[in-house]
Amino acid sequence: MSRRNIVLALILGVVGLFSIWLFAPPSISSANQIPSDLEAIERGEYLLIAGGCISCHRGQTEETNEALSGGLALETDFGIFYAPNITPDKETGIGNWQAGDFLAALKHGRTPNGSFYYPAFPYRAYAGMTDEDVLDMAAYLLSLDPVSYSAPEPEIPGWLFRWTVAGWNKLADITQPSLEQFDDELVARGAYMARSLGHCGECHTPRNELGIPDLNREYAGAEIGEEVIEAIDAVALEEWTTNNFDIFLLLGLKPEGEFVGGDMNEVIEHNTSKLTDEDRDAIAAFFTRHQSD
Ligand code: HEC
Ligand code: HEC
Repeated sequence: MSRRNIVLALILGVVGLFSIWLFAPPSISSANQIPSDLEAIERGEYLLIAGGCISCHRGQTEETNEALSGGLALETDFGIFYAPNITPDKETGIGNWQAGDFLAALKHGRTPNGSFYYPAFPYRAYAGMTDEDVLDMAAYLLSLDPVSYSAPEPEIPGWLFRWTVAGWNKLADITQPSLEQFDDELVARGAYMARSLGHCGECHTPRNELGIPDLNREYAGAEIGEEVIEAIDAVALEEWTTNNFDIFLLLGLKPEGEFVGGDMNEVIEHNTSKLTDEDRDAIAAFFTRHQSD
């Protein structure tokens, strides 16, 4: 082989290895099954509420408002994304999905054919969910009435191909620290509810230029378009007691007696107000944990 060919072969080898690393499918055990018992379906319904899935995936017409048939337009700095239909319609929804498809989508942001979802779908937050919770959600989704509807394609710049998200995911993996874990059982449950289900950080954590949430400044407040979203970190919540936070999650009432507005109202109405008292207490304990340090 000439020297030029050796160099070429080396370059191709490196590019090949790099692509394997970049595009490798997630490792998901094929032993996973979607449960079909009533208890799993009920747990799944609760988890869907805790996950705030309804806010985005709710149908947008009067007839579909109660269904998860999608269509909501999500405006981001990178363009407009539409929440898809997640009812079990076989043509337009998730009616043919297996356990592995749900795990790949929710925990790895990968489509059933191995492509990539755009992070307007907060799969990086859901990545922390247990497999059991994901599969119970799947059980619930598959128990719903199918609705036939296809959401519009995203309205985004031409260069923003799905495969570019592969690089974005890796950059996020490499640049972001792993989050603090907790020994206290209540605080640990609250961290799971807030970070992995409630995806509070999708709105409250600032992002870098690439739109990757900056976990070194978890909950330090953010700007989405024109909207300024308050910080909810230890500094911002200095005056809030755990009880204050609990009442806020139930009613949207702040300690100074004002009701919260904007998108947070939706979060309170469709998500936190419907949680069990134990789970609300857990989230409150997590956000106000610095007070007992
Ligand atoms: C902030 C809005 C938002 C929230 C919250 C959200 N999703 Fe989505 N979801 C999306 C968007 C947008 C997409 C499509 C992304 C794309 O086109 O790449 C999507 C895609 C999906 C898909 C893939 C559907 C398909 O046909 O390929 C599933 C399944 C899904 N979401 C389930 C859920 C579940 C379950 C939850 C709650 C745990 C949830 N989503 C929460 C916005 C959201
Ligand atoms: C869809 C985006 C979004 C999500 C998700 C979200 N928030 Fe908010 N949050 C907001 C916005 C916007 C405001 C400011 C609302 C206003 O203008 O009154 C806010 C306000 C708040 C406030 C009041 C802060 C203050 O000092 O007034 C608290 C506390 C809060 N959110 C906690 C949470 C928690 C806990 C979660 C997760 C369970 C969460 N948020 C998830 C958008 C969001």
